[in-house]
Amino acid sequence: MYFIYMEASELKEKYIEFFKKHNHKEIKNSSLIPENDPTVLFTTAGMHPLVPYLSGQKHLQGKRLVNIQRCIRTGDIDEVGDSVHLTFFEMLGNWSLGDYFKGDAIKYSFEFLTKELKIPAEKLGISVFKGDKDAPRDEESAKIWISLGIPKERVAYLPKKDNWWGPAGITGPCGPDTEMFFWSGEEKPPKKFDPDDKRWIEIWNDVFMQYNKTQEGKYIPLKQKNVDTGMGVERTIAILQGKSTVFET
Ligand code: SER
Repeated sequence: MYFIYMEASELKEKYIEFFKKHNHKEIKNSSLIPENDPTVLFTTAGMHPLVPYLSGQKHLQGKRLVNIQRCIRTGDIDEVGDSVHLTFFEMLGNWSLGDYFKGDAIKYSFEFLTKELKIPAEKLGISVFKGDKDAPRDEESAKIWISLGIPKERVAYLPKKDNWWGPAGITGPCGPDTEMFFWSGEEKPPKKFDPDDKRWIEIWNDVFMQYNKTQEGKYIPLKQKNVDTGMGVERTIAILQGKSTVFET
């Protein structure tokens, strides 16, 4: 099986340096007990500490940020025991607070995966939001991926339960996302991306946080369009080390 060996520390350093090179400022890991978000008990994602800034408040370090955030996801507890799910993990994230949007976010992701981590593009599958009554089908993201060289058959359109992130609690910033999957099978990757085939492993998502979900369940455009990404450190490292589960990393 293909892999280039990398330690977690090297992946983290590469990620931070890559986004610093693209004018992002590094922000610190926040507490697992959310300071800014009364809607949840634990920090389940990098977005929690940033909720006020996704909603329009100015961040002192600017509009482009990068971080490594520890997360606890009790919601995934029933999945733990397979090869990829953990309840405690680290997530790499780059953030645009009303700065770049889909075009640059996807280009950065593609460049990082294929140039910095040297993952062959043939091993990638992509999902984008299918669209529903709350938000349109995300043809824009699909087009961007295709323009970068991802074949059309490798882009799947999925509903809200798969390709939508947030809000973290009941109300707040949320939006459609595009997700990146790695082919972990021994054999050649199939032409078509089938998200139900467990050999495709999700490693990263780019969330386009552009709505605020209200108490009544309405999706209202936020003041600004944001990007929130999350790359799982343990999953990515498992792939780069050629390990078959995150527990072996
Ligand atoms: N991108 C994040 C995640 O996947 C949300 O902050 O959890």
